[in-house]
Amino acid sequence: MLSIVIDGFFGDTGKGKVISYLAIKDNLDIAVRGGVGPNAGHTVVYKGKTYKLRQIPSAFLNENTRLLIGAGVLVNPSIFLKEVELTSTKGRAFMDFQTGIIEEKHIEEDRSSEYLRGKIGTTGTGCGPAMKDRVLRVLKLAKDYPELSEFLVDVAYEVNEAIDHDKNVLLEGTQGTFLSLYHGTYPYVTSKDVTAASICADVGVGPKKVDEIILVLKSYVTRVGGGPLEGEYSEEEAERLGVLEIATVTGRKRRAAPFNFNYAKRAIMLNSPTQIAITKLDVLFKDDFGKTQYNKLTKEARDFIEKIENELSLPVTIISTGPDAIQTIDRRKELGLI
Ligand code: IMP
Ligand code: MG
Repeated sequence: MLSIVIDGFFGDTGKGKVISYLAIKDNLDIAVRGGVGPNAGHTVVYKGKTYKLRQIPSAFLNENTRLLIGAGVLVNPSIFLKEVELTSTKGRAFMDFQTGIIEEKHIEEDRSSEYLRGKIGTTGTGCGPAMKDRVLRVLKLAKDYPELSEFLVDVAYEVNEAIDHDKNVLLEGTQGTFLSLYHGTYPYVTSKDVTAASICADVGVGPKKVDEIILVLKSYVTRVGGGPLEGEYSEEEAERLGVLEIATVTGRKRRAAPFNFNYAKRAIMLNSPTQIAITKLDVLFKDDFGKTQYNKLTKEARDFIEKIENELSLPVTIISTGPDAIQTIDRRKELGLI
């Protein structure tokens, strides 16, 4: 069984939270991180503890889950090693031999470029310059670093073997559909495509192997950095509505806008999801904080979910009602999907 979790907006929809829930609930055998690299920050909250992860898959909460990073992803070795330590995942966290490595010079280039840092508003983590070097075929790979040797495996082989032996595998997308280099709001995008097809390519699995694609949409839209954002609230308005967030990686204020069906429909076209996860429902409907049963939601919240299902013609299977992994409504059984 192979599932992919993809972000349908501009990143920061709460993929980390959804994945951490699935890791526990579905007892994942393997979780693999795709996407760009340490420019993405995933927040996982469990039993009162908060983890902010930029390299290790968000599924780490389940101690039985093997944690891999695909060959298409970039790794900053010092961030990776710190997170292995923080999450106590040595012995089950690995990356592909051909994972690209970010060096100090890439970070410097990202941060000193007026165009990248100033205009595009990059995260300054060196991802764009490292991708440039990868395209030029001068980037160093994980296998060039002796200090990483104990963390290296053939990720594509492992993942395909696991799928062929009916194991439960999940691919973690990062960033968001409209930050895609090809399909996003160019030039205000990240340095790679990040749609479902690319996450497969990052890891090395063919599209025919995918069973479920879960598109994560937040109850409102946010974006950090430059670029268009339909219906953007003023900062005061966002604050008043309780949707003003602070970015995980950069500490910047996130720009915010209402839930957007145009974006959602295009994200569906680009990613072919089979189901939808809605996050931060409790931010729009305060009375629904922490609820774990659909029929306990307020009428307003259920109307919102039904409208999404009707407009998008897909089932809303996972609903997040708070930051903790367990603050989740899972409708997959009731909808006949598991
Ligand atoms: P870069 O990926 O650091 O080059 O940044 C390019 C653009 O993508 C900037 O607008 C960043 O804020 C945005 N970006 C990159 N990764 C993420 C993410 O994981 N969440 C949200 N925005 C991101
Ligand atoms: Mg994030």
